[in-house]
Amino acid sequence: MASLLLPMAAAFLLAPAILSTTVVDDLRNLRPPPEFNSTIAGNCICNPSLRYCGNSRPLDDLDEIFKSTIVASHLCNESHNPNCVESFDKIDLRGRPKIAPLYLSFDFFWKYCPLTIRSIDFSNNSLRGEFPTSVLACAQVEALDFSRNELRGDFPIERLTSLVNLTVLNLSYNHFSECKLSESLVFRRFNSSNFVHSGLIPNKQSFAVKALFLMIGLPVLVILIVGFIAMLCFRRRDLSSESQQPRVHFTTSMLKAATSGFSRENLEGTSDGVDIYRGILRDGTQVRIEIYRSEISNESKRKFVEECEVLVQLRHKNLVRVLGWCEDWVPRAIVTRWTDGESLEMWLTERAPPLKHRLKILVGVMEGMCYLHESWPQVGYDLRTSSIILSENLEPLIARFEFDSRNNTSKNKHKFGVLLLEMITNRGKMGDLEAGEARFIEHIRKNFPGNSQNLRDERIMMASTAIEQARQVIEIGLACINHSANEQLKMDHIRRILLRIYRSFHVHGSPNHG
Ligand SMILES: *[C@@H]1O[C@H](CO)[C@@H](O)[C@H](O)[C@H]1NC(C)=O
Ligand SMILES: *[C@@H]1O[C@H](CO)[C@@H](O)[C@H](O)[C@H]1NC(C)=O
Ligand SMILES: *[C@@H]1O[C@H](CO)[C@@H](O)[C@H](O)[C@H]1NC(C)=O
Ligand SMILES: *[C@@H]1O[C@H](CO)[C@@H](O)[C@H](O)[C@H]1NC(C)=O
Ligand SMILES: *[C@@H]1O[C@H](CO)[C@@H](O)[C@H](O)[C@H]1NC(C)=O
Ligand SMILES: *[C@@H]1O[C@H](CO)[C@@H](O)[C@H](O)[C@H]1NC(C)=O
Repeated sequence: MASLLLPMAAAFLLAPAILSTTVVDDLRNLRPPPEFNSTIAGNCICNPSLRYCGNSRPLDDLDEIFKSTIVASHLCNESHNPNCVESFDKIDLRGRPKIAPLYLSFDFFWKYCPLTIRSIDFSNNSLRGEFPTSVLACAQVEALDFSRNELRGDFPIERLTSLVNLTVLNLSYNHFSECKLSESLVFRRFNSSNFVHSGLIPNKQSFAVKALFLMIGLPVLVILIVGFIAMLCFRRRDLSSESQQPRVHFTTSMLKAATSGFSRENLEGTSDGVDIYRGILRDGTQVRIEIYRSEISNESKRKFVEECEVLVQLRHKNLVRVLGWCEDWVPRAIVTRWTDGESLEMWLTERAPPLKHRLKILVGVMEGMCYLHESWPQVGYDLRTSSIILSENLEPLIARFEFDSRNNTSKNKHKFGVLLLEMITNRGKMGDLEAGEARFIEHIRKNFPGNSQNLRDERIMMASTAIEQARQVIEIGLACINHSANEQLKMDHIRRILLRIYRSFHVHGSPNHG
């Protein structure tokens, strides 16, 4: 090698004109002198062990061989080692961040790495990017130091096995990707002290951090995630189950999805500016969606929300279960659980039910009213026969709530009185339905008790005891609609009287024409 390098250095690097622009370009653009071919050929005849002589047709690579030897001699000069050319056993580029990348860029140099080189040191150079694998072509090296750089990505760990004479290796302080180094053959020759903070093996400190994370952080994270999911599920389930979560807010798109875009097929009915849709929520719950078409002020909207927040908390067997509401569009909506069953109005006109069943329903309505009266006195509700729904086992559900209304007990008792009278008499038959409540009440007052047989729904077949019971019921109804009597009458008292009359049926029995 020395015999080659000397003429090279003499021939080119001593000619300063050639190294004019950047060193890189100069080195790349160098062309071998006329005698180079013959010199190489002569070298190979004298010393066939030279690396470039190993090729079957060495002269094909002459250009690269030329360049690599030039770079070698230039590097030698750069190392400022006066004995470099003679003892070219070390590439020492510690802390030379400017020229180190330059040498790494000459693949041809590494391809013909001079056989004399035993040690390569590129430590402390802030080298970036992937590990320069071309360096590993120097199969004879015994020491390789790339510590304190910014190398990242995969280190070609298996290629190290070809460096059979390698005894010193230092890859510490880099950012390589972690690899299964301990399973590699390389690890038999080297231990973790050669890879400190290299990224290749998890260092102890980060291992401790990870262990700590696994032991404490992970469980905490899992608990948080589970909690979050549970919260989501809880909210979700609130749409379907008896969850205690009070506030359920529906968006317009949720309602659209539930009703196939408010399709005609889903429209169950319209009354008083309220459209009633039947829908199915994503979780399969069947719902009744009442859409209030009227526009309201922001103040009323705020009140609406406040009232809905109360409604979703109501829990009673005689109150429809309010699942939530939607106020984020002009027609507001209230969502309640769907009940299979007809309205009280339909039931009365189409079934001609017996007095006993009618009483059972009146008791149920009164129980719902008592619950509201005791626990939620601010809630207004509707007691018309069209807005009370009967569930399968004849349990009435107060299904319509009144918003923005001034609720009071006296008014509620009055409404109940009218309902009661409608249920015992046959208001529909009287043809007074359109004539209005006032005339209906007047008609009853006129005929009671003298002509009370005219008042009763004649479809109710009654034994004499039942006639007496019907009379008592009408009496309560009239008391409810009488202002002065109404004040004295306690809700609970009405409930107890009705219950007593209802129970007396079990004692006396009654013809049942259901
Ligand atoms: C040296 O060898 C190269 C490639 O084999 C060839 O292209 C070039 O002409 C040769 N130079 C001389 C002076 O023979
Ligand atoms: C080494 O480089 C210096 C300039 O830095 C130059 O003067 C000298 O000739 C070079 N020697 C060799 C052997 O390349
Ligand atoms: C790394 O190199 C810089 C110069 O680039 C030098 O100042 C510093 O002392 C070197 N550090 C080590 C640990 O060799
Ligand atoms: C490794 O070192 C031995 C002894 O010094 C030598 O014979 C062998 O050629 C070297 N291997 C390589 C690949 O340089
Ligand atoms: C690593 O190996 C060297 C010898 O090659 C030894 O001196 C050092 O104690 C070892 N370090 C560890 C952590 O095993
Ligand atoms: C590897 O290099 C670092 C820094 O360059 C040094 O602190 C450490 O002692 C070296 N390790 C070995 C095993 O040579």
